[in-house]
Amino acid sequence: MRLNKYIASCGVASRRAADAIIAEGRVTVNGRPVETIGMDVNPDADEVAVDGALLSFPGNNVYIMLNKPAGVLSTCQDDRGRKTVLDLVNGVEQRLFPVGRLDYDTEGLLLLTNDGSFAYRCTHPKHELDKTYMAVVHGRLDEGAIKHLQSGIMLDGIKTAPAKIEMLDRNTSSYRLNITIHEGRNRQVKRMFEAVGAHVMELKRVAFGKLTLGDLPTGHWRYMTESELSTMNIPE
Ligand code: URA
Repeated sequence: MRLNKYIASCGVASRRAADAIIAEGRVTVNGRPVETIGMDVNPDADEVAVDGALLSFPGNNVYIMLNKPAGVLSTCQDDRGRKTVLDLVNGVEQRLFPVGRLDYDTEGLLLLTNDGSFAYRCTHPKHELDKTYMAVVHGRLDEGAIKHLQSGIMLDGIKTAPAKIEMLDRNTSSYRLNITIHEGRNRQVKRMFEAVGAHVMELKRVAFGKLTLGDLPTGHWRYMTESELSTMNIPE
Protein backbone atom coordinates (compact mmCIF):
# COMPACT_ATOMS: atom_id res chain seq x y z
CA MET A 1 0.00 0.00 0.00
CA ARG A 2 1.20 3.52 -0.82
CA LEU A 3 2.54 5.30 2.26
CA ASN A 4 0.26 8.32 1.79
CA LYS A 5 -2.79 6.04 1.62
CA TYR A 6 -1.64 4.20 4.75
CA ILE A 7 -1.24 7.49 6.67
CA ALA A 8 -4.65 8.69 5.45
CA SER A 9 -6.27 5.36 6.48
CA CYS A 10 -4.93 5.87 9.99
CA GLY A 11 -6.94 9.12 10.12
CA VAL A 12 -3.91 11.37 10.46
CA ALA A 13 -4.32 13.46 7.32
CA SER A 14 -5.74 13.44 3.81
CA ARG A 15 -3.63 11.71 1.16
CA ARG A 16 -2.40 15.04 -0.17
CA ALA A 17 -1.57 16.35 3.33
CA ALA A 18 0.19 13.03 3.99
CA ASP A 19 2.46 13.71 0.99
CA ALA A 20 3.37 17.07 2.54
CA ILE A 21 4.08 15.44 5.92
CA ILE A 22 6.32 12.88 4.19
CA ALA A 23 8.11 15.62 2.23
CA GLU A 24 8.75 17.49 5.49
CA GLY A 25 10.68 14.43 6.73
CA ARG A 26 8.30 13.78 9.61
CA VAL A 27 7.59 10.14 8.77
CA THR A 28 9.61 7.06 9.66
CA VAL A 29 9.07 3.49 8.50
CA ASN A 30 10.51 0.88 10.85
CA GLY A 31 12.48 3.64 12.55
CA ARG A 32 14.09 4.92 9.33
CA PRO A 33 13.21 8.39 7.97
CA VAL A 34 11.35 8.23 4.66
CA GLU A 35 12.94 9.91 1.67
CA THR A 36 10.75 8.65 -1.19
CA ILE A 37 7.22 10.04 -1.37
CA GLY A 38 5.88 7.15 -3.45
CA MET A 39 7.08 4.46 -1.06
CA ASP A 40 5.00 1.31 -0.42
CA VAL A 41 4.45 -0.17 3.05
CA ASN A 42 3.08 -3.46 4.31
CA PRO A 43 0.23 -2.69 6.77
CA ASP A 44 0.73 -6.13 8.40
CA ALA A 45 4.39 -5.76 9.13
CA ASP A 46 5.74 -2.22 8.82
CA GLU A 47 5.75 0.30 11.65
CA VAL A 48 4.96 3.81 10.50
CA ALA A 49 5.39 6.82 12.76
CA VAL A 50 4.60 10.51 12.27
CA ASP A 51 6.60 12.90 14.46
CA GLY A 52 7.73 9.87 16.44
CA ALA A 53 4.18 8.64 17.26
CA LEU A 54 3.44 5.13 15.99
CA LEU A 55 0.34 4.91 13.79
CA SER A 56 -2.24 2.21 14.29
CA PHE A 57 -3.77 0.82 11.10
CA PRO A 58 -7.52 0.27 11.66
CA GLY A 59 -8.71 -3.31 11.50
CA ASN A 60 -5.18 -4.58 11.63
CA ASN A 61 -4.74 -4.69 15.35
CA VAL A 62 -4.26 -7.96 17.19
CA TYR A 63 -4.88 -8.69 20.83
CA ILE A 64 -3.46 -11.86 22.30
CA MET A 65 -3.65 -13.48 25.71
CA LEU A 66 -0.63 -15.56 26.70
CA ASN A 67 -0.13 -17.78 29.71
CA LYS A 68 3.53 -16.93 30.25
CA PRO A 69 5.64 -19.69 31.75
CA ALA A 70 8.39 -19.00 34.29
CA GLY A 71 11.85 -18.69 32.70
CA VAL A 72 10.74 -16.48 29.81
CA LEU A 73 11.38 -12.74 29.49
CA SER A 74 8.49 -10.35 28.88
CA THR A 75 10.53 -8.31 26.43
CA CYS A 76 10.74 -8.44 22.64
CA GLN A 77 14.40 -9.42 22.52
CA ASP A 78 17.29 -10.28 24.78
CA ASP A 79 20.95 -9.59 24.07
CA ARG A 80 21.85 -12.66 26.15
CA GLY A 81 19.78 -14.92 23.90
CA ARG A 82 17.23 -15.90 26.54
CA LYS A 83 13.75 -16.94 25.47
CA THR A 84 11.22 -14.10 25.23
CA VAL A 85 7.42 -14.11 25.08
CA LEU A 86 7.62 -13.44 21.33
CA ASP A 87 9.31 -16.85 20.89
CA LEU A 88 6.06 -18.39 22.20
CA VAL A 89 3.74 -16.73 19.69
CA ASN A 90 4.19 -18.14 16.20
CA GLY A 91 2.30 -17.39 13.01
CA VAL A 92 1.34 -13.79 13.80
CA GLU A 93 2.63 -11.32 11.20
CA GLN A 94 2.04 -8.15 13.16
CA ARG A 95 4.84 -6.82 15.34
CA LEU A 96 3.72 -7.61 18.84
CA PHE A 97 4.87 -6.25 22.14
CA PRO A 98 3.80 -7.10 25.68
CA VAL A 99 1.31 -4.97 27.62
CA GLY A 100 3.32 -4.34 30.79
CA ARG A 101 5.70 -6.87 32.29
CA LEU A 102 5.90 -9.97 34.41
CA ASP A 103 9.16 -10.99 36.11
CA TYR A 104 11.28 -13.70 34.48
CA ASP A 105 10.16 -16.23 37.09
CA THR A 106 6.49 -15.09 37.21
CA GLU A 107 3.86 -17.01 35.26
CA GLY A 108 0.45 -16.14 33.99
CA LEU A 109 -1.71 -13.73 32.09
CA LEU A 110 0.16 -11.39 29.79
CA LEU A 111 -1.40 -9.52 26.88
CA LEU A 112 0.44 -8.95 23.64
CA THR A 113 -0.66 -6.50 20.98
CA ASN A 114 0.53 -4.24 18.19
CA ASP A 115 -1.85 -1.49 19.36
CA GLY A 116 0.22 1.10 21.20
CA SER A 117 -2.79 3.09 22.32
CA PHE A 118 -4.43 -0.04 23.86
CA ALA A 119 -1.21 -0.93 25.69
CA TYR A 120 -0.85 2.62 26.98
CA ARG A 121 -4.44 2.72 28.24
CA CYS A 122 -4.15 -0.70 29.93
CA THR A 123 -0.99 0.22 31.79
CA HIS A 124 -1.61 3.85 32.68
CA PRO A 125 -1.72 4.08 36.50
CA LYS A 126 -4.69 6.48 36.44
CA HIS A 127 -7.01 3.64 35.33
CA GLU A 128 -6.09 1.55 38.40
CA LEU A 129 -6.69 -1.73 36.59
CA ASP A 130 -6.82 -4.61 39.08
CA LYS A 131 -4.26 -7.40 38.72
CA THR A 132 -4.73 -10.58 40.70
CA TYR A 133 -1.79 -12.85 41.46
CA MET A 134 -1.92 -16.33 42.92
CA ALA A 135 1.07 -16.59 45.24
CA VAL A 136 2.64 -19.44 47.16
CA VAL A 137 4.25 -17.80 50.14
CA HIS A 138 6.62 -19.23 52.77
CA GLY A 139 6.91 -17.72 56.23
CA ARG A 140 4.45 -16.72 58.90
CA LEU A 141 1.59 -14.47 57.98
CA ASP A 142 -0.27 -13.53 61.13
CA GLU A 143 -3.32 -11.31 61.22
CA GLY A 144 -1.13 -8.21 61.68
CA ALA A 145 0.90 -9.01 58.55
CA ILE A 146 -2.23 -9.56 56.48
CA LYS A 147 -3.73 -6.27 57.73
CA HIS A 148 -0.45 -4.54 56.91
CA LEU A 149 -0.48 -5.91 53.34
CA GLN A 150 -4.12 -4.90 52.96
CA SER A 151 -3.67 -1.37 54.22
CA GLY A 152 -0.39 -0.57 52.43
CA ILE A 153 3.33 -1.22 52.76
CA MET A 154 6.13 1.31 52.49
CA LEU A 155 8.26 0.47 49.43
CA ASP A 156 11.01 2.93 48.47
CA GLY A 157 9.43 5.49 50.78
CA ILE A 158 6.00 5.35 49.09
CA LYS A 159 3.06 3.45 50.53
CA THR A 160 1.44 0.84 48.30
CA ALA A 161 -2.28 1.25 47.61
CA PRO A 162 -4.57 -1.08 49.62
CA ALA A 163 -4.42 -4.71 48.46
CA LYS A 164 -7.08 -7.40 48.60
CA ILE A 165 -6.03 -10.76 50.00
CA GLU A 166 -7.97 -13.97 49.64
CA MET A 167 -6.53 -16.94 51.53
CA LEU A 168 -6.93 -20.14 49.46
CA ASP A 169 -4.97 -22.70 51.44
CA ARG A 170 -2.63 -22.75 54.40
CA ASN A 171 -0.45 -25.10 56.39
CA THR A 172 2.14 -24.54 59.12
CA SER A 173 4.59 -22.39 57.20
CA SER A 174 3.22 -21.87 53.73
CA TYR A 175 0.19 -20.23 52.19
CA ARG A 176 -1.54 -20.17 48.85
CA LEU A 177 -3.44 -16.94 48.36
CA ASN A 178 -4.71 -14.46 45.83
CA ILE A 179 -3.50 -10.90 46.13
CA THR A 180 -5.09 -8.11 44.07
CA ILE A 181 -3.31 -4.83 43.48
CA HIS A 182 -3.72 -2.13 40.88
CA GLU A 183 -0.24 -0.68 40.87
CA GLY A 184 2.60 -2.17 38.86
CA ARG A 185 5.75 -1.29 40.74
CA ASN A 186 8.92 -3.29 40.21
CA ARG A 187 8.65 -6.76 41.88
CA GLN A 188 5.79 -5.28 43.85
CA VAL A 189 4.12 -8.43 45.17
CA LYS A 190 7.40 -10.09 46.11
CA ARG A 191 8.63 -6.97 47.89
CA MET A 192 5.34 -6.52 49.74
CA PHE A 193 5.64 -10.01 51.22
CA GLU A 194 9.36 -9.53 51.94
CA ALA A 195 8.40 -6.41 53.92
CA VAL A 196 6.30 -8.54 56.28
CA GLY A 197 9.00 -11.23 56.61
CA ALA A 198 7.61 -13.75 54.12
CA HIS A 199 8.94 -15.06 50.83
CA VAL A 200 7.09 -15.60 47.54
CA MET A 201 8.00 -19.03 46.17
CA GLU A 202 5.64 -19.00 43.17
CA LEU A 203 3.75 -16.19 41.49
CA LYS A 204 1.15 -16.41 38.77
CA ARG A 205 -1.05 -13.62 37.40
CA VAL A 206 -4.55 -15.01 37.09
CA ALA A 207 -6.52 -11.85 36.25
CA PHE A 208 -5.91 -8.52 34.56
CA GLY A 209 -8.80 -6.05 34.69
CA LYS A 210 -11.88 -8.18 33.97
CA LEU A 211 -9.85 -10.73 32.02
CA THR A 212 -9.08 -14.09 33.57
CA LEU A 213 -6.62 -16.74 32.49
CA GLY A 214 -9.26 -19.49 32.60
CA ASP A 215 -7.94 -22.85 31.45
CA LEU A 216 -5.37 -21.54 28.96
CA PRO A 217 -2.43 -23.93 29.49
CA THR A 218 0.97 -22.57 30.49
CA GLY A 219 2.99 -21.54 27.42
CA HIS A 220 -0.11 -21.31 25.21
CA TRP A 221 -1.77 -18.26 23.68
CA ARG A 222 -5.03 -17.32 21.97
CA TYR A 223 -6.63 -14.27 20.42
CA MET A 224 -8.82 -12.28 22.79
CA THR A 225 -12.54 -12.48 22.04
CA GLU A 226 -14.63 -9.45 21.05
CA SER A 227 -16.36 -9.47 24.42
CA GLU A 228 -13.03 -9.62 26.26
CA LEU A 229 -11.85 -6.68 24.19
CA SER A 230 -14.97 -4.71 25.01
CA THR A 231 -14.37 -5.21 28.75
CA MET A 232 -10.98 -3.58 28.21
CA ASN A 233 -12.48 -0.59 26.42
CA ILE A 234 -10.68 1.93 28.60
CA PRO A 235 -10.88 5.65 27.78
CA GLU A 236 -7.72 7.69 27.12
N1 URA B 1 4.78 -8.56 41.33
C1 URA B 1 5.97 -9.17 41.33
O1 URA B 1 6.66 -9.19 42.33
N2 URA B 1 6.38 -9.75 40.17
C2 URA B 1 5.64 -9.76 39.05
O2 URA B 1 6.06 -10.32 38.03
C3 URA B 1 4.40 -9.12 39.07
C4 URA B 1 3.98 -8.52 40.24
